[in-house]
Amino acid sequence: MKITIKLSGHILFPAMDTLPQIKDYATVIRELVKKGDHVSVVVGGGAPARYYIQLARREGADEATCDHIGITIANLNAKIFSQALGDVACPFVPMDFDELEKAKVSGKVIVMGGLQPGQSTNAVACILAEKMRSELLINTTTVDGVYSSDPKRDQDARRLETVTVGELSKILASMGVKAGEYALLDPVALRIIQRSRITTKIIDGRDPLNILRACTGEKIGTTIIS
Ligand SMILES: Nc1ncnc2c1ncn2[C@@H]1O[C@H](COP(=O)(O)OP(=O)(O)OP(=O)(O)O)[C@@H](O)[C@H]1O
Ligand SMILES: [Mg+2]
Repeated sequence: MKITIKLSGHILFPAMDTLPQIKDYATVIRELVKKGDHVSVVVGGGAPARYYIQLARREGADEATCDHIGITIANLNAKIFSQALGDVACPFVPMDFDELEKAKVSGKVIVMGGLQPGQSTNAVACILAEKMRSELLINTTTVDGVYSSDPKRDQDARRLETVTVGELSKILASMGVKAGEYALLDPVALRIIQRSRITTKIIDGRDPLNILRACTGEKIGTTIIS
């Protein structure tokens, strides 16, 4: 199966002073490859990206520059993750479409970070899923699925087993679209899921084994219906 996996930056790189916990995630990806799946990966920016974005903003940087700083850090995170993957990984992190074409030729696991300002790394994962013609996009994050509203702010929020793109756009309408503040899925990501009808699952990434569960069709997290 062709699968694109977005690895939550907040989970892999949770704090500036904490060593990244990436080995178990690399093991899961290697296991999928061994099983014959064709996997591509996007790594988010996590705490380091937010830290540097905050520094840039404090010094008066414009929003596109803040985004660009987030992209740079996500690319570094991707590079670190590809080191953990070892020889199953494409040896470079594609930073634009020409590089992505070259990475495809390698036949190895493509690991990406950011692409361009105005969108999150979730949008990159959707674009990569589109490009690779993935049958499944797995989006790991710090909550166990999509809720009727942000579960970290609303204790009455209900977890949804399925959600349409239209419903999700409404739920996320009040969320930030500034560098480092895109929550869950940004508008670009949602549009791509819809236009290419990408089967997308939002799952709890805090347990790396959930990725395997999602790949084998276990009922887990929230499925987005496009
Ligand atoms: N309706 C919702 N359902 C679920 N989570 C939501 C919702 N609205 C907002 N969120 C928030 O989205 C957050 C996940 O997105 P966030 O961008 O913070 O992390 P990430 O994407 O896992 O990390 P990174 O962006 O570094 O890769 C959750 O912590 C949750 O609080
Ligand atoms: Mg995010």
